[in-house]
Amino acid sequence: MQVELAALSYQKSRLVRSWTHLERQRGGFGFLGGPGESQIETDRRMIRDRIARLKRDLAQVRRTRALHRQARKRVPYPVVALVGYTNAGKSTLFNRLTSATVMAEDLLFATLDPTMRALDLPSGRRAILSDTVGFISDLPHELVEAFRATLEEVIAADLIVHVRDVSHPECEQQKCDVETVLRNLGLTDVIDAGGLIEALNKQDLLPEDERQPVANRAARAAGATLLLSARTGEGCDALVAAIDDRLASGLQVLDVDLAAEDGAGLAWLYRHGEVLERTEHDGALHLRVRLSPADAARFARREEDAAATRPGV
Ligand code: GTP
Repeated sequence: MQVELAALSYQKSRLVRSWTHLERQRGGFGFLGGPGESQIETDRRMIRDRIARLKRDLAQVRRTRALHRQARKRVPYPVVALVGYTNAGKSTLFNRLTSATVMAEDLLFATLDPTMRALDLPSGRRAILSDTVGFISDLPHELVEAFRATLEEVIAADLIVHVRDVSHPECEQQKCDVETVLRNLGLTDVIDAGGLIEALNKQDLLPEDERQPVANRAARAAGATLLLSARTGEGCDALVAAIDDRLASGLQVLDVDLAAEDGAGLAWLYRHGEVLERTEHDGALHLRVRLSPADAARFARREEDAAATRPGV
């Protein structure tokens, strides 16, 4: 819809120009109208109506997406977004990483949004992996704006994995193009702090003698850079481990009091965090838990929601 909207806006401006030319040929009888005039009016109206409809539909899509994001915050797993140049292998990697995971309670997301799937991490924690649209260079300005909404998922992610086709002759240029888009989305700090994980994909296509130097450069790079192949699966476990590590770093230790009957809260804390200490006192539970900042915020929100719905509070 976004692409069609951009194309129609472009066509509309062209239409005016091409018909102006005909109108000039028609000469000075502007008040009589003419064949050209009625045709251009019809075309304009059709485009105008279609644009209005697309805008309405898009607004609906945005609302739905915002609701999904809100819902995801309530089934609160961290979101890991795959970004990359078109054809870098995002979808292949997405399928490879998530194929082992069986969706249970997240089935809702799987049916609502096929680009999101659960990813089970070695630590026992769970994340949501999000596949995004492929980037290309020299995207017309209208389209950059159009894709912005799609890329809101990336801005909202807890961690970004930049998938690169390491076998592509323009691999470096593609990296710059992708990073430019990410910077335009306001992610400059994340990029400069080495906050992305770089997945150098399609290592199976590299000639044998090039692999080692590329792997050495990857090991020296600031931030996590890994050589892998989504097709053969080589290096994919290491990527999942790196994702796990990255999500675990910056963890906070919190002291939490829970009502004894709050089994769901207890399960949530065990699922998302590492319970360091657990004591019971007068029917209440006291826990010391290590949580990611994002999860700590989610837990606080959960508590607020619970307080708001508790009768008499
Ligand atoms: P867009 O949807 O355009 O953004 O592409 P994408 O990044 O999702 O790429 P996709 O997963 O569709 O892969 C593009 C092509 O690269 C497909 O033909 C894949 O089979 C191939 N491919 C992906 N990963 C690998 C890999 O590790 N090795 C090899 N040899 N080919 C791969």
